[in-house]
Amino acid sequence: MTITNADLDTAREWIAQARRLCVSTGAGMSAESGVPTFRDALGGMWARFDPQQLATEAGYRADPQLVWDWYASRREGVAQAQPNGGHVALAEWQRRHPGRMTLITQNVDDLHQRAGSDDVVCLHGGLFVDRWLDPCPRWKGGQPPCDTSTATPGRPPHCETCGNRVRPGVVWFGEALPGQALQAAEDAANDCDVMLVVGTSGAVYPAAGLPLLARQAGAKVVVLNPQPSELDDTAHLVLRDTAAHGLPLLLT
Ligand code: APR
Repeated sequence: MTITNADLDTAREWIAQARRLCVSTGAGMSAESGVPTFRDALGGMWARFDPQQLATEAGYRADPQLVWDWYASRREGVAQAQPNGGHVALAEWQRRHPGRMTLITQNVDDLHQRAGSDDVVCLHGGLFVDRWLDPCPRWKGGQPPCDTSTATPGRPPHCETCGNRVRPGVVWFGEALPGQALQAAEDAANDCDVMLVVGTSGAVYPAAGLPLLARQAGAKVVVLNPQPSELDDTAHLVLRDTAAHGLPLLLT
């Protein structure tokens, strides 16, 4: 895949002139870091499972150990991965142009953060953040009284007193996105001059609605994806390249 010089010059010009650049990334952003995209067939022992079953509250309640193990293996995979040239190009551009970039991601890995990007808007939560599955019946506000001091390594931690379980702090299918993150993403989409969409199929809303929001607000929309996506028709320019190769060319 290569981007034509004409398209590259056009996209670079739009970005150079942009007062505000909004970047929205999906799983393809981390593919060249060795983190499988969400709709890649799950590898190895997980191949027989459907992520859309595992990444749900019902799936976790049905088999906490299985889902906990799946997230543990994903955490291990991400911990061994390194940010790729695309993550680094985004972080470097943000550093060189303070206050001009809002970076939004659907990804739950921490590769943008480890590359040095600041204030990443994490629409789907994070792999390395846990939270309680249920509100504790004894909770009167402040810090929940539940504790996991007796947790067994490798098993889903739970509270010995009320039985509440710890769950991964990611947004599961059917769950609402964190309100503050979604508001920040919509504000950035409405206020940007260029929306750069990287490595997402555009299959899942509300994240997939951000490029249209930006276009309707007058922004130029640029899609960077080696494959066709559901967002191509919303784009003013589609660049057939990968994140790790294309972003360093774009963000000079
Ligand atoms: N560079 C850029 N894009 C790539 C690369 C790459 N090296 N490799 C693959 N892609 C593209 C694919 O062409 C595809 O369009 O990345 C996209 C990945 O699509 P999905 O797997 O659907 O991931 P994503 O769009 O992030 O999924 C959205 O859906 O399943 C939920 O919560 C989950 O955050 C996820 C959301």
